[in-house]
Amino acid sequence: MIVILMGPPGAGKGTQAQKLAAHYGLRHLSTGDLLRAAVVEGSELGIKAKEYMSSGQLVPDEVITGVVLDYIHHHRYQGLLLDGFPRTVFQAEGLSKAVSADNVKAISIDLKDEEVVKRLSARRVCRICSWIYSDSLPGSTGTCECGGELYQRDDDKPETIKHRLEVYHAQTKPVIDFFKKFSSVVEVDGLGKPDEVFARIQATLD
Ligand code: AP5
Repeated sequence: MIVILMGPPGAGKGTQAQKLAAHYGLRHLSTGDLLRAAVVEGSELGIKAKEYMSSGQLVPDEVITGVVLDYIHHHRYQGLLLDGFPRTVFQAEGLSKAVSADNVKAISIDLKDEEVVKRLSARRVCRICSWIYSDSLPGSTGTCECGGELYQRDDDKPETIKHRLEVYHAQTKPVIDFFKKFSSVVEVDGLGKPDEVFARIQATLD
């Protein structure tokens, strides 16, 4: 089974992915985390991705698609949770050739742009374990439970958030229509407390 979490930046994909992975024992692949780690490491992938990410553009399909399809192939006997992939119709087509539609459960978390801007401006992330916090939710103290420092992502600046939303509407939203034809998509309201959103997602999976 492959669970795919879609939705605009800041919709809560990462937050829900952490809960879903723990609850269902799924292996969580966040392409954003993978790329950010590659940038810090200075690997060939990171060098290619860096400029695109900091300006809020998508990394080119040919840079990311092969990496993710290899990962899926390598972990094909485990339950997988994809967070941040596919993000273009090209990537979705690549995935659809690699997996059976019967094994895919696509979930799109809906959130209005105004709420996205509020959430991303308040987001803090752990530098060590990538756990996600928010200045506007209880639990953000400046230090992660693992001891790591919390920081603001480079792409969570107002101008970059605006551009990421434009990119989402132009390039990623069409992926939802692709999945409506390939398998199915459940659309879930992303407003409310994280546990309330989690309960909505759970209801579609149980
Ligand atoms: P990525 O890291 O995937 O960013 P994104 O999709 O823009 O999503 P975000 O991580 O910003 O938000 P989220 O939906 O996970 O929300 P979160 O749970 O953190 O990608 C970054 C970049 O990498 C891309 O721009 C691109 O350059 C590149 N990239 C990645 N994948 C790619 C691909 N496949 N192809 C090409 N390029 C790719 O929540 C946000 C905040 O809200 C947090 O502070 C959280 O605590 C808070 N929050 C969450 N839920 C709630 C709630 N219910 N109520 C109140 N606050 C909440």
